[in-house]
Amino acid sequence: MHVELYERIWMWAAVGLIVIFVGTLLGMAASSAVHPPSHMETIDPGALADSPEFSNPAVVVRPDGAVVVSVVAQMFSFSPNPIEVPVNQPVTFRLTSADVDHGFEIVGTNANAMALPGYVSQFTVTFTKPGTYTIGCNEYCGLLHHNMVGILVVNPPGARE
Ligand code: CUA
Repeated sequence: MHVELYERIWMWAAVGLIVIFVGTLLGMAASSAVHPPSHMETIDPGALADSPEFSNPAVVVRPDGAVVVSVVAQMFSFSPNPIEVPVNQPVTFRLTSADVDHGFEIVGTNANAMALPGYVSQFTVTFTKPGTYTIGCNEYCGLLHHNMVGILVVNPPGARE
């Protein structure tokens, strides 16, 4: 079959783009642990007040030592705020929303997930640098979306949690 030169150039360019895009996804997943969340858990957004976990969202150290942070996003704040976690220890975040779609991005880290009504987003991250981080909502959620920020404090070893 005869294919015009320009046609062939476009075809290979399209193939090249796909290779670059897929390569970027795989490269980021391997190098920076950037990947879509895979946790699947539902919750009734109208009944968060009845949830033992989300009626009083907090940082909890489970009996096995795991640090779990439950977060409720709601126009236009995150609860708890600030969030204090230890450095160099896996921290599992569990997010949900009481109203509309929100984002939860810890600036300067790869922690970035959506807080959606009806679902619990979960991811685990280990912070290696103590300090104060900004948490931003990166989904437009209403008139004061730009004010929806929180604080994450990563405590140095030996500090209170
Ligand atoms: Cu919450 Cu934007």
